[in-house]
Amino acid sequence: MKQLSPSLRSRADLEILRAVAPELESIIGADVLALGFTKNSEGSISFHGSKKLLNSIQSYFEINLVDEVSFFSPSAKAGELFEIPVLHEQSDIERLYLVGLGDESLTAYRAAGAAIGRKVRGKAVEVISLCAESASQLKAHGVSALLGAYVWNLKTEKAAEIPSIVLATKDEETVQRASVIAEALYTARDMIHTPSNIKNPQWMADEAKKIADEKGLAIKVLSGKELAPFGGLRAVGNSSPNPGPRFIELSYLPRLKASAAAALPHIVIVGKGITFDTGGVSLKRPYEFMTAMKSDMAGAAAALATISALPALKPLVRVTVLMMCAENALSGTAQRPSDVITQYGGTTVEIINTDAEGRLVLADGLAYAVENLDPDYLIDIATLTGSATLGLGRQHAAIYSRDDKLAQQFVALGESSGERVWQMPLIDDYADSLESDIADLNHAADKGDYSAGSVTAALYLEHFVGDSRWVHLDIAGTGRSETDSGENVKGGTGFGVRLFLDWIVSLS
Ligand code: BES
Ligand code: MN
Ligand code: ZN
Repeated sequence: MKQLSPSLRSRADLEILRAVAPELESIIGADVLALGFTKNSEGSISFHGSKKLLNSIQSYFEINLVDEVSFFSPSAKAGELFEIPVLHEQSDIERLYLVGLGDESLTAYRAAGAAIGRKVRGKAVEVISLCAESASQLKAHGVSALLGAYVWNLKTEKAAEIPSIVLATKDEETVQRASVIAEALYTARDMIHTPSNIKNPQWMADEAKKIADEKGLAIKVLSGKELAPFGGLRAVGNSSPNPGPRFIELSYLPRLKASAAAALPHIVIVGKGITFDTGGVSLKRPYEFMTAMKSDMAGAAAALATISALPALKPLVRVTVLMMCAENALSGTAQRPSDVITQYGGTTVEIINTDAEGRLVLADGLAYAVENLDPDYLIDIATLTGSATLGLGRQHAAIYSRDDKLAQQFVALGESSGERVWQMPLIDDYADSLESDIADLNHAADKGDYSAGSVTAALYLEHFVGDSRWVHLDIAGTGRSETDSGENVKGGTGFGVRLFLDWIVSLS
């Protein structure tokens, strides 16, 4: 079986999800088959997929599937999984996974996929799932199976073995596209998991360059003196002199005549790429919150992973990604509360709390996009505020936009993609909390007692979006999982990748 290092990108040639024909001859070479079942309101159980194939599996192994699963008195809830031994002298298959499909929603197909992925995680096993049939089921189920199987560590003893996850279907095209999405999610997760002694802003630029070269994307990296106009990025990132902040711009253009390409809608995605957030001089408290802050570049990782998938998915849109990368360190060159900085475009800002660094780097990116990129859609994604987690927990990201229709499209795509978002209000009554006596703006709310940290952060960003169609995603709660369950391991989730890819594809 294939041996893989933690970084999936170094295994570019690896097919991470595969399709085989749903026929007995094609599937008996696997180690495990996964079969989905449901239970109706009368309590009767049925298995999913072609009756012919199910019957041939039953006679091949001389079993009755309904009898076998009934032995466990199953609830059939999504992701419930029973393992039974089987034997046939001409087949490698030793086990069947009998997997509950709950209410057969896409959420249920995802839970079933994640359960199968978890069972084979770290093992050199080939599992063929027969659970999903329609294109949307195959995609949801297949991607989640890959997520459930995801591992990342730097253990030296033994590299994790990699399972082979296969879907029994004739729809190779759907499986291929699901594989691309899963690879992008792995890319984001690999980056988020990487510890911050390795992952500095230059490392982010190196990873972006590798991906750009491999996938054929254009890339530009700015550093040092080139960052003169980016006052927010410098104020945060100069706290860490070695190697300092980076502005990374990647772009995707479909292969069309230049004039045809120029007529396509242009999406710009700005990602927060704080490689570690100590809070700076306004040191993060309680200190236990700090250990999770290697994930504070999850927005930039999701943006990079999204664009990495586009050359394979080939949507007819233009996409530019801006990764705003800096470390927020505590040092002699760190900014101070009460400093006044100048954001890209000239807005002066009084620094209130150096732990509100995300909006400073994002504002430069948003203002740069408005001035230079003429976006039709301007999106930002950031692990921005603890308040977003307080308000919505870890299942939904906060989404803000003045364009309610667009926000609701994201809400709907959140349900179907598995990355859920909830629209929050941009409350104009709170705008005065960002007024400063000595600069154009206060960078964090210190007037009034509005206790709406995620809302006031969004209001801050809105000052930099001009008249763009703007959408802001606060993924502080969803970007990282604190538990190892379902699709997630403890650590980066890759949140944003599925949502963005589904949205981008829906536009073309
Ligand atoms: N990176 C944090 C937000 C965060 C907190 C992300 C928890 C993920 C989990 C951000 O830079 C931050 O520190 N925000 C402050 C802003 C405040 C000082 C105005 C916050 O939310 O407390
Ligand atoms: Mn912070
Ligand atoms: Zn932060």
